Amino acid sequence: MAATREHFGSRLGFILAAAGSAVGIGNLVAFPVAATKSGGGAFLLVYAVFVLFICLPIMMAELALGRTTEKDPVGAYRQLSGGSRAWRIPGWMALITPFMIAVFYLVLTVWILGYLIEVLSGNLNQLTNEAYFGQFINSKLIFVYLVLVMLLTNSVLAMGVKDGIERAAKALMPMLFVMLLGLVIFVLTRENSELGLKYYLLPDFAKLNAEVISKAMSQAFFSLSLGMGIMITYGSYLKKREAIPGAAKAVALTDTLVAFTAGLLILPSIFHFNPQIDTSTLSESSASMIFLFLPKIFLSLQGSIGYFGASAVAATFFFLVLIAALTSLISIVEVPLAALCDERGLSRKKAIYIVGVLQVILAGACAVSFGMVDWLTHFIHIAGSEKGFFELVEIVFYDTILPLNGLLVCLFVIYKWKRVNFNKALSQGDSSFSGSLSQKYVNFSLGTFIPVILLLVFLNTVALKFFGHSLI
Ligand code: PHE
Repeated sequence: MAATREHFGSRLGFILAAAGSAVGIGNLVAFPVAATKSGGGAFLLVYAVFVLFICLPIMMAELALGRTTEKDPVGAYRQLSGGSRAWRIPGWMALITPFMIAVFYLVLTVWILGYLIEVLSGNLNQLTNEAYFGQFINSKLIFVYLVLVMLLTNSVLAMGVKDGIERAAKALMPMLFVMLLGLVIFVLTRENSELGLKYYLLPDFAKLNAEVISKAMSQAFFSLSLGMGIMITYGSYLKKREAIPGAAKAVALTDTLVAFTAGLLILPSIFHFNPQIDTSTLSESSASMIFLFLPKIFLSLQGSIGYFGASAVAATFFFLVLIAALTSLISIVEVPLAALCDERGLSRKKAIYIVGVLQVILAGACAVSFGMVDWLTHFIHIAGSEKGFFELVEIVFYDTILPLNGLLVCLFVIYKWKRVNFNKALSQGDSSFSGSLSQKYVNFSLGTFIPVILLLVFLNTVALKFFGHSLI
């Protein structure tokens, strides 16, 4: 077992690494798509409320669990469970969930890398052909890209927390901010972009219903990398003298600002492409937005900036999403690595090999479940429809278990670990937190309505995804 735990070198390093985890495909694509479909400014408002009043306390709880124990999620829950076997279960769930989410996220990242390479090879026009996507994801090239993404992710992880994760975040995150801003400025100078802005920002409260509200909740929760053991693990590398509440606020704010800014990019682009667009015809899925619709938008820019210019914009966008996805992948793969090192005393290198091999196998199984391998493509019947292996992993781990893990974090921290200990942990490095209004709010909310809301989201997802009926 490691004698002393490695720590992030600085507060900024931690914030960038945690923001790197939080900023991902979810922010850059899923958030703008959800806002478009769900009332623009009205959705933004609901989302912001959820981030501030629900997700932020949970993030503080996860960070405190990690920082206090200096352990991976399994070790953290075990150490604080006071010998109760039942309370160790959430620890295992906070290990298995990120492992499986990493598997499906890997596949998405692989596709993004593939599209970036296509654009850089001068093939943007080919990507606008809808049939191309199906061919691409079923081509053998996918496996080459899978190995490439694994190599990229694991070579950062192999360098450790400070020299790997933190250094990568410090280099990549500023680059991401600059590229995102550059693209937004470019898009906002295009014709009709103001129509997109209006659509994005003006609230349409009529579109707010129970389903939209539940979607905003799930989106905020996923976007902040909660329920996946990530914040517990990253918290375990946070120095005791750093303030958890302040760091959590900075991470949540960065993540939300990036999501908001991505909307300033996507919506105006859509309206520049087609000012008369009927947004109800847009798909709700991020994958169809990235891989089917956006290439068409990029290609349409060739009228004003030429094919080369359009390809440069497309390449910048795919590179941006790739960076966001890689920094998220790094954080999520770190969870099983930390668990193997802490719990089994393995060296980091050995852990990387073990996790890497398992993930290539499982991600490979996901990647071939779109037609390449028959039984994985027709893997299971759920709620009257057939699902492939990729979809199954997404439904079980991303849609369903995530809110359940969040619920368990709240219950554990308040009712097992107890408020006094939790408060002590939050006040360490931030003496002003003790007795503050924030402390009272965090204590009250985590023990009362936050778990109730997460329970409702969980039950509704089970009803919807496994039985085909929404409860709300
Ligand atoms: N916050 C990430 C996103 O928005 C979610 C995520 C984190 C996914 C880590 C995978 C790994 O995409």
